[in-house]
Amino acid sequence: MLYGLLKKAALQYVTGESRIDGLGAGQRLLAKGYAISLEYIGESTAHAEECEAAVEEITALIDDLGQKGGSARVSFDLSHIGLMLDTELAYTNLAQIAARAQVAELELFVSMEESAKTERILEVYKRAASRYPNIGITLQAHLHRTPDDLPALAALPGRIRIVKGAYQEAVEVAISRSEALNVRYLQLVEKALGDGHRVSIATHDERIIEEAIRRGLLTMRGAELEMLYGIRPELGGRLKSAGYPVRIYLTYGHEWYLYLCHRIAEYPPNLYRAVANMADS
Ligand code: FDA
Repeated sequence: MLYGLLKKAALQYVTGESRIDGLGAGQRLLAKGYAISLEYIGESTAHAEECEAAVEEITALIDDLGQKGGSARVSFDLSHIGLMLDTELAYTNLAQIAARAQVAELELFVSMEESAKTERILEVYKRAASRYPNIGITLQAHLHRTPDDLPALAALPGRIRIVKGAYQEAVEVAISRSEALNVRYLQLVEKALGDGHRVSIATHDERIIEEAIRRGLLTMRGAELEMLYGIRPELGGRLKSAGYPVRIYLTYGHEWYLYLCHRIAEYPPNLYRAVANMADS
């Protein structure tokens, strides 16, 4: 019973459990003129067989997406494909996926996880991105280290996605949601674009988006706005109609509860929404 109710709450943000669900929702958004990112949900995988299964699923997703050029991309967590077991395994799996994506001319994106993993994620990313230009990386504006991490990516061709950060972190490591974070966020976007990177401005914060538009950042070459499926869809629609490049990030998979937890952690009112959904059932 509780499982069913939680799942219903998660379905606001997750397209479903199967690849067909993700691809179907993605196709509908593509038909409306959005670009898409797709993620098979999973993280902190502790067994090699499960990592292998994740690589197989991600590869099948790449094959199913086919040649969609820049309009579709695939995202994943390195801890879903081996980072928890061995950095080398994560690298090998990332390289395998990137080689397959290169054949399909598809872009990949490595997500950023909690700060305990940041160093290893960047290490694996830098190594792989120097061989595979089709891999981008996500950076979290809330981490104090991020302004120093950005210049080290300058020589790499991959796109940079800038997010605020979904994980609860200690004050020594990160700043919480605040005006200071918004200022830092925009500085990072400005710096990354100024350095010639292609940048995904990944936020639903209307004030940041308005300011990015006011400063001309969203119309710079290589810039796009990226938003999560189910969050502020009216805002995404409005910006798309106004002619800005908008990409929607969709997820699918059996581990939808992980994804729901992240959405609640970054925006606690979602907890009330989830409970209200349950009460309505
Ligand atoms: P903020 O949290 O301040 O929210 C601004 C406004 O947006 C809110 O007032 C509300 O209106 C709306 N909103 C935001 N979140 C909402 C939610 N969950 N439900 C309903 N409304 C909400 N994080 C990470 O740590 N690693 C990663 O790899 C990624 N990847 C990623 C990809 C993409 C495409 C996006 C858009 C986001 C991520 N994130 C992420 C999540 C990111 O770090 C951040 O937690 C969320 O984007 C929410 O932060 P905002 O920038 O939207 O601002």
